[in-house]
Amino acid sequence: MSAADYSVDDYVKDLRAILAEDSDENTIVERVKPLAQRLAAQPDWSNSGEISYNEAQGFGIRLLHQEENHDLAVFLFSWLPDRGTLPHNHKTWAVVVGIDGEEEEVQFRRLDDGSTPGYAKLERTGDWTLTAGAVTTCLPEDIHSVWNTGSQVSLSLHTYGRHINFTGRSEFDPETDTERPYVVQVDEG
Ligand SMILES: [Fe+2]
Repeated sequence: MSAADYSVDDYVKDLRAILAEDSDENTIVERVKPLAQRLAAQPDWSNSGEISYNEAQGFGIRLLHQEENHDLAVFLFSWLPDRGTLPHNHKTWAVVVGIDGEEEEVQFRRLDDGSTPGYAKLERTGDWTLTAGAVTTCLPEDIHSVWNTGSQVSLSLHTYGRHINFTGRSEFDPETDTERPYVVQVDEG
C-alpha cells in the first residue's frame, strides 16, 4: 500500500488500537510517530481544502478528527510566515509531523514550582527546526513555542491525546513571567 492509500480514518483506527493496548504516554507517542509520518506524507494536503488560514491568530487550525468526548484529536496546522506561538504546554501527549515549510520549535523548562497563580519562570533549554517529514513529540507538561521561520506558509499534522481546548493548558509569557489559560481558534467545519 502506498502512502497515498492511508487516510485520516485509517489513521484514527490505528490510533484507537494503540490506545486500547497502551496507557503509557511515552509508549503511545513512540507508536504514533511512524503512523503520523505516514499520514503526513500523503501528497494532497496543500490541495485538500483542509487548510485554515487565520491572520489574527497567526496560524490556522483545521480539526480533522476528535472522539465525541474530545479525546484523540487530529489537526492540520497552517502557520503564516514569521508568525507563531508563545511558550505553552498541552496537558496531553502530542505528536507533530512537518508537511511543508519550516517551524522552529524552542523548548523550555519551568523553574518555579507552580504554586503562585499566574506566575511562571521559564528557562530556554534548546531549539530545532521541524521540516517536512520530521517528527517531534511532547508529553503533557512539556513547554515549547513554535515559529514559522520560513517565507512560505508552513503545514504540520498534529495529533493529541485530547483536543487542546479541553485540557486546561497554559500559555506563558517569559518577558513578564506570567502563565494564563490558553485556548486557540479551531476551524471545526
Ligand atoms: Fe504546541
